[in-house]
Amino acid sequence: MSMDDAVDKSPPGCHALMRVFYESFIGQRGLFMELYDVMRTTFAVREFTDAPLPDATLFKILENARFAPSGGNRQGWYVIIVRDRTTREALATLTVPAAKRYTAQQRAGESPWNSIDPTQVDEATIARTPAPARLTEPLLRAAVVLVVCVDLKVVAATDQYLERVGVISGASIYPFVWNILLAARHEGYGGTITTLTVAQEPKIQELLGLPSHLAVCAVMPLGKPVVQLTKLTRKAVPAFAIYERWSGPPLTTDK
Ligand SMILES: Cc1cc2nc3c(=O)[nH]c(=O)nc-3n(C[C@H](O)[C@H](O)[C@H](O)COP(=O)(O)O)c2cc1C
Repeated sequence: MSMDDAVDKSPPGCHALMRVFYESFIGQRGLFMELYDVMRTTFAVREFTDAPLPDATLFKILENARFAPSGGNRQGWYVIIVRDRTTREALATLTVPAAKRYTAQQRAGESPWNSIDPTQVDEATIARTPAPARLTEPLLRAAVVLVVCVDLKVVAATDQYLERVGVISGASIYPFVWNILLAARHEGYGGTITTLTVAQEPKIQELLGLPSHLAVCAVMPLGKPVVQLTKLTRKAVPAFAIYERWSGPPLTTDK
């Protein structure tokens, strides 16, 4: 279902005039963005205008983002605000090895950097694969780059003894990271969660003087988007929501 044929979201009992008012000034076409519209259109911004993102706006974004949940409400987040050109260049350079590997795996039809299927791509192929500019240049072009970290001393990693890569720690930081993007959107800005640089975490820690128990979770270019996308590509609900068991039927609207 597209946004255009979505159900009427105006309050019940509205007559036609009220509905026009609602849609014009409050609803999806109006001054205020409706929550579902924001959820459906907050995209990965990689192209930015030259507009600055002042500290006052950044403060407001973080002031609202900080209401994100975290395990035990421990709020282990720290944000390093990087405006310095040299530091941004260093971050972009540190992104290159992971971006080369990502691209080489993608070209080989693999799901890049997955922790289950070992890569069939050899090191020589990775070495000669160029890192696409879209994976590094946003760090140089954005108004500001946020390096979001989490203090592993306060994160409950309940999956740490399982024989697979840890995912639970991320749940204490990525709601906050996503809130930053939502708040940025509200202020007319945008950005991207990027993680390729994190493959070089010890070097980021050295670059920014971070203690080793601070994990780097996202390197986020933020700025004014050149365009605002209105349609994102995502799987439909029945492709991922299943009744009762993995082998069960998909969730559909006709149940
Ligand atoms: C955990 C995570 C890691 C990501 N890492 C990167 C990255 O390193 N570089 C990048 O350009 N985009 C990165 N992205 C952005 C995704 O590519 C983007 O969210 C996805 O393609 C959907 O884009 P769209 O919202 O514009 O449709 C990452 C997103 C997430 C959630």
